Amino acid sequence: MKFAVIGGTGLIGSQVVKILNAAGHEALPHSQSTGVDVISGQGLDEAVVRADVVVNLTNSPTFDEASPAFFQTSMDNLLAAAQKGGVGHFVILSIVGADQVPELDYYRAKVLQEDILAAGPIPYSIVRATQFMEFMDAVLSWTADGDTVRLPARPIQPIASKDVADAVAEVAAGAPLNGIRNIAGPEIFPLDELGRIALSRKGDNRTVVTDPTAGMFAVVKGDILTDMDAHLAPTRFTDWLS
Ligand SMILES: NC(=O)c1ccc[n+]([C@@H]2O[C@H](COP(=O)([O-])OP(=O)(O)OC[C@H]3O[C@@H](n4cnc5c(N)ncnc54)[C@H](OP(=O)(O)O)[C@@H]3O)[C@@H](O)[C@H]2O)c1
Repeated sequence: MKFAVIGGTGLIGSQVVKILNAAGHEALPHSQSTGVDVISGQGLDEAVVRADVVVNLTNSPTFDEASPAFFQTSMDNLLAAAQKGGVGHFVILSIVGADQVPELDYYRAKVLQEDILAAGPIPYSIVRATQFMEFMDAVLSWTADGDTVRLPARPIQPIASKDVADAVAEVAAGAPLNGIRNIAGPEIFPLDELGRIALSRKGDNRTVVTDPTAGMFAVVKGDILTDMDAHLAPTRFTDWLS
């Protein structure tokens, strides 16, 4: 099968391209660095024209109030190009519990992206993943101050990006779900504890101070863990760290 992987140079996209090509498919990566822009529409028609499946793994440059506009415009442009090109399956990667977290612009933006896809003309699949293990460095940097990092004790179920890419590739190569598949890491940690494990494994001497008001996850009131129906990925956090 032929796949156009939009955002195919990013953390997840680059791995999805490799997995699909290794399985004997033809998957091509597209992004601004290959001359394709989901916001201006440049290069989109050419990128999707021969594809059986479009996998959209682009990400907004910011997580703030500008993110809904990114997902609105990019989905409008991509769906129009995919419909014109006769694409039979459109896949996106969203976040577990995104609809439970209206407090965060970025989570609202991901729900908007899901809604645009579901209301659109093309058979689709939505993969929802929990927070990537690779995201931990960014989380630690947001509330770092000298020798301390402040984090709330909010439960998190981190997943390795490799496991996310495997799940996205599997869904993309299958029949459209016209619905959602949840995937998650195999363990749940309070975020402050996760920070302590990450710092200690790296030999980083900073101290994690538990602070229910600190950082992006402090405002999350809803549930961002998976239900019993989720596919649990194999990689454990300490194995990923080593
Ligand atoms: N972080 C998490 O824990 C988490 C959890 C669940 C789901 N997700 C979702 O996973 C998806 C992929 O995330 P990621 O971490 O792999 O993203 P990433 O590493 O930041 O990659 C983003 C990709 O989008 C491309 N891109 C950005 N703006 C573009 C534009 N205007 N036109 C064309 N391409 C553009 C980038 O390439 P260029 O720079 O070359 O354009 C890059 O290939 C996102 O949609 C995110 O919401 C994330």
